[in-house]
Amino acid sequence: MEPIPSQMTVVGISKPGGPEVLLPETRAVPKPAPGEILVKVAAAGVNRPDVAQRSGSYPPPPGASDLPGLEIAGEVVALGEGATKHKLGDKVMSLVAGGGYAQYCIAQDAQAMTVPPGYSMIEAGATAETLMTVWHNVFERGRLAPGETLLVHGGSSGIGTMAIQLAVALGSKVITTVGSQEKADACLKLGATRAINYKTDDFVAAVKEATGGKGVEVILDMVGGDYIERNYEAAAMDGRIVQIAFLGGAKATVNFTKLMIKRLHHTGSTLRPRSNADKAAMVAAIEAKVMPLLHEGRIKPLIDGTFALHQAADAHRRMETSQHIGKIVLTV
Ligand SMILES: NC(=O)c1ccc[n+]([C@@H]2O[C@H](COP(=O)([O-])OP(=O)(O)OC[C@H]3O[C@@H](n4cnc5c(N)ncnc54)[C@H](OP(=O)(O)O)[C@@H]3O)[C@@H](O)[C@H]2O)c1
Repeated sequence: MEPIPSQMTVVGISKPGGPEVLLPETRAVPKPAPGEILVKVAAAGVNRPDVAQRSGSYPPPPGASDLPGLEIAGEVVALGEGATKHKLGDKVMSLVAGGGYAQYCIAQDAQAMTVPPGYSMIEAGATAETLMTVWHNVFERGRLAPGETLLVHGGSSGIGTMAIQLAVALGSKVITTVGSQEKADACLKLGATRAINYKTDDFVAAVKEATGGKGVEVILDMVGGDYIERNYEAAAMDGRIVQIAFLGGAKATVNFTKLMIKRLHHTGSTLRPRSNADKAAMVAAIEAKVMPLLHEGRIKPLIDGTFALHQAADAHRRMETSQHIGKIVLTV
């Protein structure tokens, strides 16, 4: 194994602002603390929260790296005390609390997962964040069961493309909303039974029609705003609505009558500030229940495109066009 250098190239946020504030810097290579591993990064996924962090609206939680980057894949090159799940030379993919836009990154040993066979490092670098977000919100919070129908808003997003695959592979039907025909085609190809272009069709009416008037059992929503009341309309009796973002606004005037009449559950969560113990528990559940589907090649992130680490600004520009379908990845 090559010696670990003392310095590395990273991409930092020079000040809050547009994509141009993402600039290469030189930093010291971090040392793994107890329970941590040092990963030589091969690929780092770009996620919408990185854009929010760059523009100053999503500060890193206390103790986390100030560098952007919430998921990585690479080779384990150093082990902190007590890190026994992985060994030197292992190829892993992991959620990280920040610092992914770098040549080396610290991950929690318990949160890192072995790269599944048949996965490229680019695919592996684009997996952990969406897999954990979808698993926790759709299955642990939303309790989606086989035979039930899931409505995914933003079906072509990194999160949406993972949610479609996971729900279909675990025996559910998926309906999505999308902003273009091209995105609709991509969602149908991933296994969705219906992709509603919300710019031309009313998703509530389309969901009712697709479910024989019953509505959907679970909704994964990243839009909020005026979708909140419309989600109550589109949900089935005892439906579960899980909020993971508010791209359309966090404030709304809502008539809650449907929530009561239909006995709905409206919940939500954010992954990043969760404790290491919570994240490790999610990873353990994923390894037990979902990893075989990744091994069989039934779940693989849909890659929109890749950019070199020093082109992180262009990767953010691509994400902010919202034209991408699936994941944008930085190669290191
Ligand atoms: N709570 C959590 O734990 C958690 C974890 C990870 C990510 N997230 C959130 O989940 C969302 C998806 O993340 P991602 O990385 O998958 O994002 P992404 O790939 O950039 O996808 C976002 C998509 O949402 C759709 N959209 C709908 N309304 C929008 C609006 N008002 N503004 C911008 N886009 C809108 C767009 O597609 P259309 O053309 O179809 O509109 C866009 O492509 C983000 O908001 C992110 O912050 C939450």
